[in-house]
Amino acid sequence: MPHNIPLIAGNWKMHGLAQAVPEALSIDAAARKSNARIALFPPATLLDRLSQALIEAGSPIITGGQDCHCEADGAFTGDISAEMLKDAGAGMVILGHSERRHGHHEPCALVAKKVIGALRVGLEPVICIGETLEERLAGETHAVLNRQLGASLPEELTGQVFHVAYEPVWAIGTGHIPTDEQVVDAMVLVKSYLEDRFHGQVTPHVLYGGSVKPDNAAHLLTLDGVGGLLVGGASLKAVDFNRIITAAG
Ligand code: PGA
Repeated sequence: MPHNIPLIAGNWKMHGLAQAVPEALSIDAAARKSNARIALFPPATLLDRLSQALIEAGSPIITGGQDCHCEADGAFTGDISAEMLKDAGAGMVILGHSERRHGHHEPCALVAKKVIGALRVGLEPVICIGETLEERLAGETHAVLNRQLGASLPEELTGQVFHVAYEPVWAIGTGHIPTDEQVVDAMVLVKSYLEDRFHGQVTPHVLYGGSVKPDNAAHLLTLDGVGGLLVGGASLKAVDFNRIITAAG
C-alpha cells in the first residue's frame, strides 16, 4: 500500500507576488533530478501564471490550490471552485488545513464536501488532519485523528487518488517537531484507518507536515510510514525547498 516515491509539497499559504514565479522555476532542476513527486501550492492569484510557466518549461512539478469551494459555481463571493483550480492548471488541492479548520471554523463535514468537489474534476485532494496541543495533552490525539479521518473522507471516496497529511497543529510554523515516536504513531493510525476502510484498494501518500526544514527533512522521510512532506515556511525560498527536494532523493 505505501508509495515507494515520496510526495514533497510546498504550501505557500498567503505569500507570494509575481516575482515568486521565476524563483519557483529555479527549483525545476532539482525536481527533474528527484525521484519524488514535487507539488507547489501557490496563492490562487499565482496558480495560473505558475502552472503556465511550469508547463512551458516542461517541468514535472505539479501545482495545486490551497482550498476550494464544494460547489462548481454560484453566488459565493470570494470563493474558488475545484473546476476553477483545474482550469488554472492545478492537479491537486489541499483541503482541511488547520488554518482553515481553526481560522475559518471549517468542520470535517465541509471538508468532506470539498473533497467530493475535488474528485468531481479529478484533482488529487491532500486532506489534512492533526490535533491541537490541548488535545494532545488531554490524551485525545488518537480520538481526534480517527474522528477527522472518518468525517473528512467522504463516502464517495472509493478508488480515487487522494492523500492524507498529518500536521500536528502545535508543530505548524512553531519550530516544534514531534518526536519520532509521535510521528510514527500517527502514521500507524492513518495507515490502519485506511487499510480498514479501503482494504488496500488505494495508495495515498501519507505526509508529515509541521516545521519541516532542510535540516530535518531527510530524517523525517526515514520514519516508518512517512510517504512525503507538506512544507510551509521552508517552501518559500527556493534555496531551502531545493535542499528538501534533494533530501527526498
Ligand atoms: P510550516 O507549515 O512548515 O511552516 O510549519 C506547514 C503547513 O502548514 O502545511
